[in-house]
Amino acid sequence: MTATADYTEKIPNNVDLRDDRRLQRALESWQPNFLNWWESMGPTLPTEDVYLRTAVNVGREGWAHFGHVAMRDYRWGIFLAERNQDRQIAFGQHQGEPAWQQVPGEYRADLQRLIVIQGDTEPASVEQQRNLGATAPSLYDLRNLFQVNVEEGRHLWAMVYLLHAYFGREGREEAEELLHRNSGSQDAPRILGAFNEETPDWLSFFMFTYFTDRDGKYQLGTLKESAFDPLSRTCEFMLKEEAHHMMVGTTGIDRIVERTVQVMNEHDTDDVVAHGAIPLNVIQKYLNFHYSVSLDLFGSETSTNVANYYTAGLKGRWSEERRRDDHRLTDDAIMVDALDNGDITLTEVAALVGLNTDLRREYISDCQNGVNRWNNTLADAGLPQRLTLPHVAFNRKVGAFASIEASPNGDKLPTDEWNHRKDEWLPSTVDKTYIHSLMKPVHERGKIAAWIAPPRQGINGQPFDYDYVHLP
Ligand SMILES: [Fe+2]
Ligand SMILES: [Fe+2]
Repeated sequence: MTATADYTEKIPNNVDLRDDRRLQRALESWQPNFLNWWESMGPTLPTEDVYLRTAVNVGREGWAHFGHVAMRDYRWGIFLAERNQDRQIAFGQHQGEPAWQQVPGEYRADLQRLIVIQGDTEPASVEQQRNLGATAPSLYDLRNLFQVNVEEGRHLWAMVYLLHAYFGREGREEAEELLHRNSGSQDAPRILGAFNEETPDWLSFFMFTYFTDRDGKYQLGTLKESAFDPLSRTCEFMLKEEAHHMMVGTTGIDRIVERTVQVMNEHDTDDVVAHGAIPLNVIQKYLNFHYSVSLDLFGSETSTNVANYYTAGLKGRWSEERRRDDHRLTDDAIMVDALDNGDITLTEVAALVGLNTDLRREYISDCQNGVNRWNNTLADAGLPQRLTLPHVAFNRKVGAFASIEASPNGDKLPTDEWNHRKDEWLPSTVDKTYIHSLMKPVHERGKIAAWIAPPRQGINGQPFDYDYVHLP
């Protein structure tokens, strides 16, 4: 295996695919199906070419090449981080043993399931975002959308490679299914709820890349710890690409807040609607929605499946190696969110069954960083308003709080009060209609929509007014 990808191959890769003819043929026969899926379910806006980065190397520096490419000619490839020959399993009952280069028979079904669930989210987000190009606020943003889309397509390739290379016929069948399920489909929806929600506008897109792509980062972080080394190395490289998706979300919301603040100060009013900006309370409602549906992606507070995955070494904790404990957790406990006699509270459980909660808390504290950053923008402008993350019990459909309603402050509410007040906290029809009305494309070089500030920096050192996308 080499760090540099071979681009003379039909499927660019750094896994020496040409040495395994069977696998190469299997993946080459999946490739046209992928391209058909991209054509029918991928971005709908016609483009001539887009300034995209393509991975060429997995090493620390210079792993990407930038250039204008026609999107259908994008070279989706297979890249694994370099192998560490001495890697040992860092946790669970196999701690200290050499990492696995093949799938142990007893863990085959579980590992396949974990890979399929991760793989299903990758094309789902492309489907959710397919119509956004038509309303991009600038060519810079349009380019970022397409970059995220092609990389989610590549992440699908990453999971499909593992299924084909290590899971035989069943793996190949699952790889087909990844193209047959579709986001929001009645008959064959995507596996996880948040990936069947529409991404109808750019405020939602930035919230999605901030909150839901960040869930992806944390899930990949646990799979990066896996004892199954090819999965670990795959996820390690995916995390590098994922960093760009986080950047798009963080700076996207940054720029919306910045523009809102400008208008508030310029006109000395909170009513920025008259001036075509997005009111802070609407930003807060979209944040509430995307944050709460993303919390659901971490599953129930307690899970024996996840305990078993950990003990078996299939998936670890976020930053497993930096944790200062025995990495087996058999004698440890954790406090998890719970409902006790209908009250929102905490309860103590064995650390192993509480691992979903552990991961969700790591995620929550990461989410808070963005909120702090947006609040700095408000503070610097001398404004008293602040954005906040709602309470974990707010608007949940999965886990301990699925059966109750709670306010963003974590006060339990009777159902009729919730129904009465939920438009104060979640995007209402009026809010959605307003956001929708702002979604007018700005496809002219160097121009930007009135509801968002331009970025501080362009992509790869290029200026904001660079010709990031050529439209027909
Ligand atoms: Fe991804
Ligand atoms: Fe992503």
